Amino acid sequence: MAQNNIVGDLHVRKDKFVIEGGHKLRGELEIWGSKNASLPIMAASVLNSGDLILDNVPPVKDNITMAEILKVLGMEVEFLEGDKVHIKGEPKGYRAPYELVSKMRASFELMGPLLALFGEAEIPYPGGCRIGLRPVDLHIKGFESLGAEVTVEKGYVCARAKKGLKGTKIHLDKPSVGATRNIMMAAIMAEGETVIENAACEPEVVDLGNFLKMMGAEIEGLGTSTIYIKGKKDLKPVDYYKVIPDRIAAGTFIIAGVMLGKDLIIKNVEPEHLQSLFIKLKEAGVESFQIKDKEVRIKAAKNWKGIEVTTMPYPGFPTDLQPQMMVFLSLAQGSSLIVETVFENRFLHVGELLRLGAKISIDGRTALIQGVEKLKGAPVEVTDLRAGAALVLAGLVAEGTTEVLDVGEHIDRGYVALEDKLSNLGAKIKRVYYEEAN
Ligand code: EPZ
Repeated sequence: MAQNNIVGDLHVRKDKFVIEGGHKLRGELEIWGSKNASLPIMAASVLNSGDLILDNVPPVKDNITMAEILKVLGMEVEFLEGDKVHIKGEPKGYRAPYELVSKMRASFELMGPLLALFGEAEIPYPGGCRIGLRPVDLHIKGFESLGAEVTVEKGYVCARAKKGLKGTKIHLDKPSVGATRNIMMAAIMAEGETVIENAACEPEVVDLGNFLKMMGAEIEGLGTSTIYIKGKKDLKPVDYYKVIPDRIAAGTFIIAGVMLGKDLIIKNVEPEHLQSLFIKLKEAGVESFQIKDKEVRIKAAKNWKGIEVTTMPYPGFPTDLQPQMMVFLSLAQGSSLIVETVFENRFLHVGELLRLGAKISIDGRTALIQGVEKLKGAPVEVTDLRAGAALVLAGLVAEGTTEVLDVGEHIDRGYVALEDKLSNLGAKIKRVYYEEAN
């Protein structure tokens, strides 16, 4: 596990992956539960007054942070063997602590359920992050439409609906994943019907909706752009729910497999959630993978050609696989284009890929990638979670040694012991601690 400790006054202890590239990946890997579905479902558990076991919740850093916040709110949370988390009790407060919330934007998704429960919620305003400004205006507009008064006080977003929330029609300017989920959680106990138009269709929205439905919430239209919610006060406790597999983790390993696989088997995959990736791999000429039920069996492709990829809300190509896809396209024959439409600043990995010998230029939200024959190992810096995953893939496929710095801050947020999982498949990768001037 990562340990980012202050060492004396001057140095911080960090961790890096040291990767010797070029080793084939073989054997089996079981994909864990979706972080981006676990987080809102854990947030929604404040509405579940029973004793809940959430299954398929990996102990990644972001899930641990959410657990800590729930504990501060007064709930009992314990991670169990086998990626389960036990959540008990009821929240005693509706104000989330800045120190924890500032670590992770997804904690803003506690606002909806706390507001539904207490008629009041106070959550620190989530700051921007490196991949973009990532405002929460759509969440706030949604709460206001439901009748809450929302103010920002001393850095906290404070929402109040003393007389309760009232169902209404909400049209989102963008199909925001977080805003759809937050508004859905606020609306399930509101008076009357809420309609969310231009809602996000991501599987992680559907999974949260299914959990809420188990609690008795009346929701229709999940997975489509119009969600209908009939508010009701009497929800019932749920004692067990299993979270969907992590499609982004699966996609990361599938991309690794088409570059380096030698009979690699990825299990616990929901193929339906990864259609956009499979279509793009086939368009690039890759046919060396077979999908059967929840399993993908992969061999490395001999070569592949450049293509165009545009990131879009689901079912479009996921922005969370864009950096990993860029590594794959860096080694394509010919040139490729990647257009990033979801986040305004999600090309931070490009500078690091250039250090490994990739040929990429950027014009606004478009990256032009000219395929090269090989990447060559070098030290690279991780800037965010998926950029980190991409740099690990680049290190695995590059010639020589790649050092991926600062993995604890980023990669551990979404991948548990990635080095062990890859080592089990034959990769040469190890975690090494180092000190950096503070
Ligand atoms: C979720 O973030 C995911 N996080 C992200 O996963 C993912 O990249 C993103 O959806 C898009 O798929 C979780 O599920 C915890 P959005 P979210 O609201 O909900 C703009 C990862 O690597 N916007 O759909 O924050 C926003 O700035 C990550 O695991 C507004 O303008 O994403 C962005 O450009 C990172 N106003 C776009 O919408 C708002 O109020 C989509 O964001 C909200 C969003």
